[in-house]
Amino acid sequence: MSEPVKDLQHYMRPGVLQLPALPPLSLYVHLPWCIRKCPYCDFNSHELSVPPTLPLVAAPRGGSSGLGRPGAGWAGELPEQRYLDALFADLEAALPLVWGRTVHSIFIGGGTPSLFSPEAIDRLLAGIRARLRLAPDCEVTLEANPGTFEKDRFKAFRAAGVTRLSVGVQSFNDQHLKALGRVHDARQAVAAVEEAALAFDTFNLDLMYALPGQSLEQLEQDLAQAMALMPPHLSVYHLTIEPNTYFAKFPPRVPEDDVAYAMLDRITEVTSAAGLQRYEVSAYAKPGHGCWHNLNYWQFGDYLGLGAGAHSKLSFAHRVVRQVRLRDPRLYMEGALSGQAIAQDQEVARADLPFEFMLNALRLKEGFQAQQFFERTGLPLAALERGLQEAERKGLVERTPARIRPTERGFDFLSDLQGLFLPGG
Ligand SMILES: C[S@@+](CC[C@H](N)C(=O)[O-])C[C@H]1O[C@@H](n2cnc3c(N)ncnc32)[C@H](O)[C@@H]1O
Ligand code: SF4
Repeated sequence: MSEPVKDLQHYMRPGVLQLPALPPLSLYVHLPWCIRKCPYCDFNSHELSVPPTLPLVAAPRGGSSGLGRPGAGWAGELPEQRYLDALFADLEAALPLVWGRTVHSIFIGGGTPSLFSPEAIDRLLAGIRARLRLAPDCEVTLEANPGTFEKDRFKAFRAAGVTRLSVGVQSFNDQHLKALGRVHDARQAVAAVEEAALAFDTFNLDLMYALPGQSLEQLEQDLAQAMALMPPHLSVYHLTIEPNTYFAKFPPRVPEDDVAYAMLDRITEVTSAAGLQRYEVSAYAKPGHGCWHNLNYWQFGDYLGLGAGAHSKLSFAHRVVRQVRLRDPRLYMEGALSGQAIAQDQEVARADLPFEFMLNALRLKEGFQAQQFFERTGLPLAALERGLQEAERKGLVERTPARIRPTERGFDFLSDLQGLFLPGG
């Protein structure tokens, strides 16, 4: 079901909040197709029944197909041009909500955005530039899967205006890549990262740990291989078994919790020895290579999300609004092309703002400036006081008058810490 489009006056009407200024704005664009649905993935991604012809896509099909996972299965070819038309219609309908604001970062995520041709990404970025004011140093990230890699493709993305590539490697171990249902092997992963390093000044590599059957030693080998490629940015995620995925239905044997903790300790040690700082729970970067786009999320900045199932958070003088686009790609395209792309549009309740802010800000090593809480929520710091006192008592945060940051213990028990700021908590 789509929501009737609201006009600007609806968002500008008086309300309970008084924001002193609007936060920086980012743009997220969701491209929801993949060559094959990974058994652990609950993102809004849809397996193509007719995969595009890319020379390096070598992994065998089958095994993980079609078992009731969310978003599995897309009958037909990648509808590149129609989807771009829908994105532009969606953007045009949303323009009044971000009128006059500068966009500081663009993140093209998925799904597997690197399935789109460089020509399509060029058309996408040109269309965005024609409709929105971009900051001169606007960061433009594109997510890439090594299974979609072919010679010169990444350079062509760079030429289209992408400034940063995020390569979804997950592991450099063929056995684990197979267990994860990935469409690429370790050799392709290394080749893709080497090409990313050649084509881009900055790039990210995604790894996962606590994989089915993974030992601490094997994790160390993954890390050593990752470090040898010298990524300026690394994201490392603990494999989570998400509801409604193939793995939820047929759970693999994963390492015990104490082994997973030992793995995280090693990740922190090895990355730090390589000059990468853990600036967020899952993100490690060399100085100057943090991801601006994700930082803006964690600092409770604004983002407009275009594409199937994309989420937006937008601030106005008297309210903060969250929107979700239609999730099914076919319905999204139909909806967007007829001016009805939005499935949900809700104002964040004043009572929920402290928790929503803390859910993000406490992920950052440096925490947040006290002043920033007021700027982003319009609420006084007193709204956090009870939770902060409790968190300090438990040794989970430290604060000065100007800044609040999680302690190391707070980082280790992040969800407990965040939970202290739940409304009514
Ligand atoms: C939306 S995916 C996009 C990258 C691209 N589609 C790919 O997989 O190569 C972003 C990242 O989230 C991580 N991820 C996805 N599902 C996960 C899960 N269940 N547990 C942990 N990390 C996960 C993976 O590291 C993945 O690279
Ligand atoms: S390639 Fe990425 S988005 Fe696609 S199914 Fe796998 S993890 Fe999910």
